[in-house]
Amino acid sequence: MSDSYLDSLPDDFVWGTATAAYQIEGAAAEDGRAPSIWDTFSHTPGKVDNGDTGDVACDHYHRWREDIGLMGRLGADAYRFSVAWPRVVPGGDGPVNKAGLDFYDRLTDGLLAAGITPYVTLYHWDLPQALQDRGGWPARETAEHFAAYAAVVAERLGDRVTHWATLNEPLCSAWIGHLEGRMAPGLTDIEAAVRASFHLHLGHGLAVQAIRAAVPGAQVGIVNNLTHCEPASDSEADHAAARRSDGHTNRWWMDPLHGRGYPQDMVELYGTEPPARAGDLETIAAPLDWLGLNYYFRNVVADDPGGSLPYARQIELPDSRRTGMGWEVHAAGLTKTLRRMTEDYGARRLYVTENGSAYPDTVGPDGQVHDPERVRYLEEHLAACADAVAQGVPLAGYFAWSLLDNFEWAYGYDKRFGLVHVDYATQRRTIKDSGRRYAEIVRAHRDRARRAA
Ligand code: IFM
Repeated sequence: MSDSYLDSLPDDFVWGTATAAYQIEGAAAEDGRAPSIWDTFSHTPGKVDNGDTGDVACDHYHRWREDIGLMGRLGADAYRFSVAWPRVVPGGDGPVNKAGLDFYDRLTDGLLAAGITPYVTLYHWDLPQALQDRGGWPARETAEHFAAYAAVVAERLGDRVTHWATLNEPLCSAWIGHLEGRMAPGLTDIEAAVRASFHLHLGHGLAVQAIRAAVPGAQVGIVNNLTHCEPASDSEADHAAARRSDGHTNRWWMDPLHGRGYPQDMVELYGTEPPARAGDLETIAAPLDWLGLNYYFRNVVADDPGGSLPYARQIELPDSRRTGMGWEVHAAGLTKTLRRMTEDYGARRLYVTENGSAYPDTVGPDGQVHDPERVRYLEEHLAACADAVAQGVPLAGYFAWSLLDNFEWAYGYDKRFGLVHVDYATQRRTIKDSGRRYAEIVRAHRDRARRAA
């Protein structure tokens, strides 16, 4: 694919890679880290494929210097990582674990020394188990403890970190963790799920205040996994299903952030109200500096009255290309979602904070990892970003998911999303063809920007 689309991207476009603490760090019991809900979940037989856990993962806790070196070889100028709450405040509230905080301090300094800008996410699903034992996200106090933890991290790193995200994909925490039961804490209860969604939003709003109080000039945002939802047919029932899917995936997460409260059609569908108190909706709707979009696939749905909430069944279109996750490859959905965030929600600065694909990669006899499908996925989605910019979307950067193959939650280690292959037996890292292609694209964009200056 030609690189001409790169001309549409702004000269100062940010090129990054992304990871999350529990998926790569390992060192689960080191230096005072306490268990999170994901330690509990992954150690519960039957919850994660092959019985995999994040105990060792990519051993990034010890190999972070090597991993920063890999980022440099990919040409990335930014790195989005998450801080593990159970490392920093092991009990969820109360004493701060200095050793845990020191790790992120070293990592931040290492990134800056390598010319890589840190983008810190405060919560990527690893709630301290101690807080789960006291009610977890369905309990209001968890939101307050999250803000206190956010303040601790912001106070320590805020002299060097400008870009902050409160939450990653609260949809997964609430819907998949509390309604579908496929992620920690593994509940299947709509009442708990709605309460969790609300307290995640509230925790976000309180954390925004805490970060801004600690870090003058902080650029604060939130990362959502939104997508384009369409009906599988022209039937009225499928159109209604697409509207419900949109409510469940997009509007429930975006409307409250934009001062619109929770969508009434969805409150009625769920049959339960978020437990908002006076002033909470204003806290949640604090204006943000940026919005992050994690995009992987679109939703094509059919009415599913006998199924589960939101009664919209994902349809596999014939002839569609699919990744190793079974997810449809549909780059145009990324452009549409970015446009929606701009046109319907007035976003003023957006990042694609995650985008990528899993395939069953292996290191070949030549010592290389040839992953042409991921190369194609990457190129098509970058072209979709450029299309969005050409259509007026204020897109400021792209973070490839992921820097490394890693612990893919309930799928364990079999699903490989990395630009860099990890041999888990030896922890050997090998840059895949897609990683090399990414480096080439970044270089080409920088050269164009330099020529244009
Ligand atoms: O691995 C996850 C990540 O933690 C959150 N976004 C989606 C990725 C791929 O499933």
